[in-house]
Amino acid sequence: MEVWPGRLPPAPVDLHAACRDADGLLCLLTDRVDAALLEAAPRLRAVSVFAVGVDNVDLAAATARGIQVGHTPGVLTETTADLAFGLLLTTARRIGESERDVRSGRWPAWSPGAYLGEEVHGATLGIVGLGRIGSAVARRAAGFGMEVIHTNRSGGLPLEQLLERSDFVSLHVPLTAETRGLIGEAELGRMKPTAVLVNTARGELVDTDALVAALRHGPIAAAGLDVTDPEPLPPDHPLLAADNVVITPHIGSASRRTRELMADMAVDNLLAALRGERMPHLANPEVADRLTGN
Ligand code: NAP
Ligand code: GLV
Repeated sequence: MEVWPGRLPPAPVDLHAACRDADGLLCLLTDRVDAALLEAAPRLRAVSVFAVGVDNVDLAAATARGIQVGHTPGVLTETTADLAFGLLLTTARRIGESERDVRSGRWPAWSPGAYLGEEVHGATLGIVGLGRIGSAVARRAAGFGMEVIHTNRSGGLPLEQLLERSDFVSLHVPLTAETRGLIGEAELGRMKPTAVLVNTARGELVDTDALVAALRHGPIAAAGLDVTDPEPLPPDHPLLAADNVVITPHIGSASRRTRELMADMAVDNLLAALRGERMPHLANPEVADRLTGN
């Protein structure tokens, strides 16, 4: 077993070199497992991703090579939903901005018109992608007396209607060719001027330039982001200059217990495939069907 020793992810050239003779790879969402890497790793038969999202892996190329790709669904659902709801509350009630003011001595006195935000109770929450995490966010919203609407490929409202009706929009779809840039200038333009966008899925779902413009001049009120494009944001990025955005460093699943469970799951996936068995949590089941002749 070889472990990457760096604090930062390996550069592609280092990842390629490390995988040259590898049978299996346990990787992070920051590691790009593309066709070029697979080509540079002729022995590879297992890729285990320490995340539920597998957008860093070229699934089609892995499947074509018969490589099982594993991921960690379910164990991080509630933890990520907690963070999404935390961002919703933080942005709606301007907690980040007002906390910064208290800390820096910019809060002169209580005032009836200061730090007015949006009400969460009774508001409408639009969930884009009512899967595991989207449903867990919906359960939290019910406890806050919110009305929940959703859009999925398999049901719910058309996205346009959801955007027009929602006070809060929370994104929970995977990043795919279909969802990249799902929320751009036109979609932001459909949202209410008081609306809040929450993204704990993937930064690339949202057109960053359009979001910066929408936060500066309207049409939306605020955004809560656990994921951005690019990630991390450079220190001079315009999103960091906006007061009406709260940004966390991709910590959706970052509780001690959840990360332990993800680690166990990722190792179980890897070992199963190296034994020639089906990974318990497989993102490309076509490969295992081929193994078993189904
Ligand atoms: P999931 O259970 O597979 O749910 C995804 C949902 O998206 C499904 O309901 C799916 O329904 C819907 N969907 C897929 N493509 C769509 C499209 N083109 N248009 C509309 N709906 C679509 O996944 P999950 O476990 O909830 O995770 C969701 C994502 O969250 C992950 O892929 C990952 O990127 C992100 N995530 C981030 C963090 C973090 O740290 N911030 C942590 C965990 C997960 P249909 O198939 O019916 O369309
Ligand atoms: C985190 O972003 C994950 O996909 O698990």
